[in-house]
Amino acid sequence: MYRIVSKEKLAHKHTLFTVDAPEIAAKAQAGQFLIVIPKEGGERVPLSICAFDRQEGTVSFAFHEVGKSTKELGTFNAGDELFNVTGPLGNPSEIKRYGKVLCVGGSIMIAPALLQAKALKEAGNEVITVLACRSEEFLFKKAEAERYSDRVYVASDDGTIGEKGLDFLKEVLSREKFDRCTVIGPVVMMKKVSEMTRPFGIPTIVSLTPIMIDGMGMCGVCRVTVGDKMLFGCVDGPEFDGHKTNFDELIQRQRSMLPEERLSSLLWEHEHEGGCRCGRK
Ligand SMILES: Cc1cc2nc3c(=O)[nH]c(=O)nc-3n(C[C@H](O)[C@H](O)[C@H](O)COP(=O)(O)OP(=O)(O)OC[C@H]3O[C@@H](n4cnc5c(N)ncnc54)[C@H](O)[C@@H]3O)c2cc1C
Ligand code: FES
Repeated sequence: MYRIVSKEKLAHKHTLFTVDAPEIAAKAQAGQFLIVIPKEGGERVPLSICAFDRQEGTVSFAFHEVGKSTKELGTFNAGDELFNVTGPLGNPSEIKRYGKVLCVGGSIMIAPALLQAKALKEAGNEVITVLACRSEEFLFKKAEAERYSDRVYVASDDGTIGEKGLDFLKEVLSREKFDRCTVIGPVVMMKKVSEMTRPFGIPTIVSLTPIMIDGMGMCGVCRVTVGDKMLFGCVDGPEFDGHKTNFDELIQRQRSMLPEERLSSLLWEHEHEGGCRCGRK
């Protein structure tokens, strides 16, 4: 069992947990992920590591409540115990002194993007961070981003804070020379940023989130196409070359279980929230 040391509300349905897991904290690195099973018999939920403290023996992850398992996770509080947390899984981010790095984090993935920004800054890079969110109320950890970055841009889909959308990046990219770009967030955002950096020849690393089961290379569910290779998100990634990734296939595969996921979410709401929008009581 893994005790939740603290629960931090980042925004509506966006939560950050810090859990007691000394054996994971001892090995965790930026870019890796955990598989969390909230309750016995529950689903395995892959979640990116967004912080770790080797001395305290804790590791943190942030999640957006989108379906049954993440909604269930949101009902846990500090002091509660999670049935299982496995990790660190996947390969760490490649952190070197590249020069000037553009670090883009979107939605809930702003949290793990900041761990990358911190590691890149500590390696001696000039770090320009972009925090992309739906609207002002979904922006979090800006002060932390400022600590790890030489400059921070904020962008929101509706323009309620910072730049409206990510199109402003075209101008930034044509004005300044970047040596590397890392992008972690919704797949459509990673695709868009990769398309923007392509004409400038900026090596662009994306962190892919295919549906996963075991997270250890055995089930094959997480396969992604990168260049002419079929790779496994869990053991070959989760980070890949954004200019070679087949994002459309990834989006299609992510949507393959939508009806089942929707049903499972509605049933969970019935059981735990006393009714839902489908009208049944
Ligand atoms: C390596 C990796 C790291 C991840 N890191 C994080 C993280 O740090 N924080 C976070 O909130 N989420 C993260 N995700 C996504 C997260 O695992 C899913 O949102 C979660 O499994 C959904 O479970 P659910 O039962 O709540 O919803 P489901 O019922 O399984 O799905 C609900 C909705 O979420 C979508 N969804 C399901 N799986 C994924 C997925 N893998 N990626 C994107 N959308 C998905 C479905 O298409 C559906 O629309 C990560 C995924 C991977 C593979
Ligand atoms: S999740 Fe099973 S092989 Fe990657």
